[in-house]
Amino acid sequence: MAGKVMQAIRFEGYGGRVADLKHAEVPVPGPKKDEVLLKLEATSLNPVDWKIMKGVLRPILPRKFPYIPGTDVAGEVVEVGPGVKSVGVGDKVVAMLSHATGGGLAEFAVAQESLTVKRPPEVSAAEGAALPVAGLTAHQALTKSAGIKLDGSGKTTNVLITAASGGVGHYAVQLAKLGNTHVTATCGARNIDFVKSLGADEVLDYKTPDGVALNSPSGKKYDAVIHCATGIPWSTFEPNLSERGKVIDITPNATAMLTFALKKLTLSKKQLVPLLMIPKRENLEYLVGLVKEGKLKTVVDSKHPLSNAEDAWSKSIDGHATGKIIVEP
Ligand SMILES: NC(=O)c1ccc[n+]([C@@H]2O[C@H](COP(=O)([O-])OP(=O)(O)OC[C@H]3O[C@@H](n4cnc5c(N)ncnc54)[C@H](OP(=O)(O)O)[C@@H]3O)[C@@H](O)[C@H]2O)c1
Repeated sequence: MAGKVMQAIRFEGYGGRVADLKHAEVPVPGPKKDEVLLKLEATSLNPVDWKIMKGVLRPILPRKFPYIPGTDVAGEVVEVGPGVKSVGVGDKVVAMLSHATGGGLAEFAVAQESLTVKRPPEVSAAEGAALPVAGLTAHQALTKSAGIKLDGSGKTTNVLITAASGGVGHYAVQLAKLGNTHVTATCGARNIDFVKSLGADEVLDYKTPDGVALNSPSGKKYDAVIHCATGIPWSTFEPNLSERGKVIDITPNATAMLTFALKKLTLSKKQLVPLLMIPKRENLEYLVGLVKEGKLKTVVDSKHPLSNAEDAWSKSIDGHATGKIIVEP
């Protein structure tokens, strides 16, 4: 593809606003030794994409501008680096691109082989592209942090999932129900039936008094909370936790980090566990397999053409998606 150009949408500096997105014609990237070049079929957005552009991880990310945002992609392999063994030209795949380089809002992107997995025909490009950040975060929170066994073999665990209608939350509810769990979930009034349809046993409208207090309708205390919303203090979680209950916080702020340290230092039985998702290929393969088998579904909030990625970007910033936002070249 050397010498070819493609359409891409990029930022030339920090800001992250829709108005800062620039359409550009740029060279198609070339794969290095352990990389593959993908002709993209779908990209899903995550809040971290616009948070990075706003400068939340400055100066670590992004490493340089101009920067094409977007890490979660599905596409067809059109070129492979000399060290690549597990996929070949013509394979349909799902990949997670590095946050350091981005690249998803474009017609082509380069992915590391180590985070690229084959996409079977039963999994659409949009369903696959939706999985990496949101699916892997839900999976890590439930399995590694909360210790839930997704083959159903563990002891019964009472789980609370906040923002269950969002990208991470809608996967978390479904994955939790593969384990031996009772799931209470929070979402807005318009999504209560939707979240029940994902398998939640009890659903709280987050704007009602019981929703604000996180009171389980059946009076259950939570062994694990997968906290995907923002702005809920420890003092709200604490009385709702079982004796050794844990809050797995995927949106920790400075106060949450302080609580984490304090609970650790005082050897508190109730803990707050901040989570940063570490992507693993075998877990992405597992999630793609679940979608193939019909055990996990991706709910698509909306699809947007690359030529109008501004609408997708703005929808993600609004924070009211039900499921995942997809951009298609
Ligand atoms: N730590 C990590 O590694 C990691 C990984 C992935 C994501 N995250 C973070 O996790 C958060 C969730 O990500 P996401 O992709 O799921 O976001 P998202 O898809 O944008 O979430 C949107 C959904 O959240 C619901 N919601 C918002 N506030 C709520 C509240 N207080 N209670 C209940 N529901 C609420 C909204 O419902 P309404 O429309 O009804 O308000 C909407 O359906 C983001 O802050 C993201 O940056 C962290």
